Amino acid sequence: MSIVLAFDIYGTLIDPHGVVTELQRHVGDRAAEFSRVWRDKQLEYTWRRGLMDRYQDFGVCTLQALDYADLLLQTHLDESARASLMQSYRTLPAYADVPAALESLRSAGHRLFAFSNGTAEMVGAVLEHARIRDFFEHIISVDELQTFKPSPEVYRRVIDIADTESGNCWLVSSNGFDVIGAVSAGMKAAWLKRFDGVIFDPWGIDPTLVVQSLDELAQKLS
Ligand code: LAC
Repeated sequence: MSIVLAFDIYGTLIDPHGVVTELQRHVGDRAAEFSRVWRDKQLEYTWRRGLMDRYQDFGVCTLQALDYADLLLQTHLDESARASLMQSYRTLPAYADVPAALESLRSAGHRLFAFSNGTAEMVGAVLEHARIRDFFEHIISVDELQTFKPSPEVYRRVIDIADTESGNCWLVSSNGFDVIGAVSAGMKAAWLKRFDGVIFDPWGIDPTLVVQSLDELAQKLS
């Protein structure tokens, strides 16, 4: 039976730390540290905005997190550096295992969706650039609901758009908070444990499946 697979984007298919090369031009050997602070703050801002009911889209969260990292690390980015870093967010690379695994999953007859905190425009741009846009039936963005993962609303939206039963609907994500959000809202979820040493939150809400790579996911679901 064909299943619905909703793929998280940043951290799962697309590498948010792909900005490090561009960051090195602006902040030298602090690039990796800067990238970590930027990404952590970006996610924190989505959670806080969701809780406060003060939605601003993911582009705004990303820009404000960039400014936070700049202030914290005292890197004094000028306007043109900020603009080029924001632009590089639209050309982030896909992880190496992504195209072949998406091809296998699509060939197995599964329905693939992109599902992200990013706006449909932002996600469309990054998927086009990585040449993987055509694998997806639809881009589902939280922007339609003006809130963020892990609000249960956004996972219910996936189930509605896919027009299938929740038990046939999987989230695929490297982000533990996203996996817990999906399972809690009634979806199945595969946690993609891309890196050794990453810990899954011990909340007692476990992933349906844990895989180390998308190839492994494709094998297990074929
Ligand atoms: C996304 C965030 C979680 O793509 O990175 O939805």
